[in-house]
Amino acid sequence: MRIDILTLFPSMFEGVFQESIIKRAIQEKKVEINIINFREYSTLNNHQVDDTPYGGGAGMVLRCEPLVSAIESVKKENTKVYLMTPQGVPYKQELANSLAKESHIVLVCGHYEGFDERIKNFCDGEISIGDYVLTGGEIPAMAITDSIVRLLPGVIKQESYESDSFQGDLLDYPTYTKPYEFRGYKVPEVLVSGNHQKIREWREQARIENTKEKRRDLLDFKEVE
Ligand SMILES: C[S@@+](CC[C@H](N)C(=O)[O-])C[C@H]1O[C@@H](n2cnc3c(N)ncnc32)[C@H](O)[C@@H]1O
Repeated sequence: MRIDILTLFPSMFEGVFQESIIKRAIQEKKVEINIINFREYSTLNNHQVDDTPYGGGAGMVLRCEPLVSAIESVKKENTKVYLMTPQGVPYKQELANSLAKESHIVLVCGHYEGFDERIKNFCDGEISIGDYVLTGGEIPAMAITDSIVRLLPGVIKQESYESDSFQGDLLDYPTYTKPYEFRGYKVPEVLVSGNHQKIREWREQARIENTKEKRRDLLDFKEVE
């Protein structure tokens, strides 16, 4: 899979994809990640990428021209292009699963007041990582890239993510490691019983309890007590 990220601040990505699982996925060629500075696609003097808003108002708006040129320079037949914007569809694990099946995606990072609205005609969708406003689309692009790469075949074991929170309707089950007792708090007895059937049942029930306690909204459409 290939992920191209269009940004005005490429150095923000230094380091982020150079650690741990994502670094290994890049080294093993499970994913190719390209960081592209769309300022280089501006044809204006001093490579200006923004301008004042029509109708007046605060801040600067990103112009279509450098963004569309950058998009067109990387776009192929099966490429999907997504704008990072707080007005987009809320990003969920379901969308991460579906993006992980694409062969090439482009994530476009905004800044300042955001994009000239006409940029949408050149994109396949708009994605928000939550109902709050950040200074730019770089952190959303990092979060989305990270969530996709860990789902790519061979990056982590399938069993490591299939019970993850949000893969289905439930949160993950609680996990414990050594020591058995820490400051008086013990590991649930069943987990040291060696009875794998009982452990599976306990974990399934624990996922339901965990979800009811922390994220009841995920179960709202089901009949739960
Ligand atoms: C200051 S924001 C612009 C917000 C815009 N004026 C609005 O209210 O919709 C600048 C850029 O940050 C990015 N951004 C901010 N919050 C975001 C979020 N929650 N999800 C995705 N992108 C976000 C977008 O790329 C956006 O163009």
